[in-house]
Amino acid sequence: MHLLRNSAYVNGNWISAASKQTFPVCNPVDNAVITRVPDMNTADTQAAIDAAAKAFESFSKTTAKERSDLLRNWYNLMVKHSEDLACILTKENGKSLAESRSEIKYGSAFVEWFSEEARRIDGQILQAPFPNRELFLFKQPVGVAALITPWNFPHAMITRKAAAALAAGCTCVVKPSEDTPLSALALADLAEQAGFPAGILNVLTTSVTNSPAVGLELCENPKVRVLSFTGSTAVGKILYKQCASTMKRLSLELGGNAPFIVFRTANVDVAVNSAMASKFRNTGQTCVSANRFFVEDDVFDEFVEKFVQRIDQEIKMGDGSKEGVTHGPLIKKSQLDMVNGLVKDAVQKGAKVHCGGGPLPGLGPLFYAPTLLTGVTRDMEVYNREIFGPIAVINKFCNEEDVLRQANDTPVGLAGYFFSQDISQIFRVARKLEVGMVGVNEGLISCAEAAFGGVKESGLGREGSRHGVEDYVDIKYVCIGNLKR
Ligand code: SIN
Repeated sequence: MHLLRNSAYVNGNWISAASKQTFPVCNPVDNAVITRVPDMNTADTQAAIDAAAKAFESFSKTTAKERSDLLRNWYNLMVKHSEDLACILTKENGKSLAESRSEIKYGSAFVEWFSEEARRIDGQILQAPFPNRELFLFKQPVGVAALITPWNFPHAMITRKAAAALAAGCTCVVKPSEDTPLSALALADLAEQAGFPAGILNVLTTSVTNSPAVGLELCENPKVRVLSFTGSTAVGKILYKQCASTMKRLSLELGGNAPFIVFRTANVDVAVNSAMASKFRNTGQTCVSANRFFVEDDVFDEFVEKFVQRIDQEIKMGDGSKEGVTHGPLIKKSQLDMVNGLVKDAVQKGAKVHCGGGPLPGLGPLFYAPTLLTGVTRDMEVYNREIFGPIAVINKFCNEEDVLRQANDTPVGLAGYFFSQDISQIFRVARKLEVGMVGVNEGLISCAEAAFGGVKESGLGREGSRHGVEDYVDIKYVCIGNLKR
């Protein structure tokens, strides 16, 4: 793992925190310390923002082709070092190597995509309403972008934001999760090798103790003009408030509570395949994971039976770096306690456990068995919240109108999935689901080409796709008047 760095990266330098404080990064498989990284504080953050603001002066003047070439170099290096990146990811996050490899591929695709999009951030010539005027819309980079990224996709959530920001001509200060800073540092190493000048991409590592103050500085510092965050709705709301004082542009990819609906018209085998992929991706710690299964009464027993069979046969939990392991541990004790608490509460109130149902301490301190519950009722906590763990809750329904009401009965709306072979039903339900992304007969829908984002309390803005750069550009209207015709 020659990309494993243990310094922060600011203004083109690999540095310690001014305070010289560090914090440990642990492997969730056994809590062993992988390395220690600098614990940057508010003063370090200000220095990184200053560096990014200074670098913006020249980077904002680069041509789209120059930025495209830099991004393409970065992407090529990610491909070349993909195995190293995957090993680092598995070590700090715990997901299996197979999952890490697919995240590296997925995440790197954003850099490839935005290297191409960089050259298409075009303005517009407008039809002037007066004969002696010419009207234009210019698209210009917003300025310094602060990117706060989560532990569940430590590679892809940085590339999805940073590549869009850099394509637009913004400079970046990245604050990765305290649980997974090593993937971020590896990306900074590759950015340096790719030829990005000093100050364009900065990575601040911060402990859980310093994170709130660093986050506050990123929100309140007037030199930061856009803040992008992926994480919980609760934290998103805090950042939203904190950004008000400087009226920052905000891109928020927040929590979901994805319905996964299997209609009687579905191909049940396709639905079960997709359920496996959607529910257990990253051991369920994914904001677009299926969170509430609704299965129509006619096919309920068949779906449950096949789903349990597939879980028993196909999920092999363990140390993700070992051959044959499909799923790793949860990221930290608070996650394990939360998941365990949800299942205990449901079981106490009468839910039926079809498989799993508890931690797997024989494998390590943070393993939780893939679990399938039925008989869940609204008074159980697991019915109402984003689970973020390997727990599948299967509810029965008896008609389309009723299931749509239940599916939409939540303040968030990120992804939703449904399975049907009735074309009229497909259009009807796709339009009526209150979510930003819909999978029809498909449980894995993320890709660089897609517009990723939610409605309601799931956030603001879209990432990926040609819309992904919109958060990082200002539209400037230019009117040239008194022209002689
Ligand atoms: C997330 O869970 O935060 C992102 C998942 C994805 O990009 O598909």
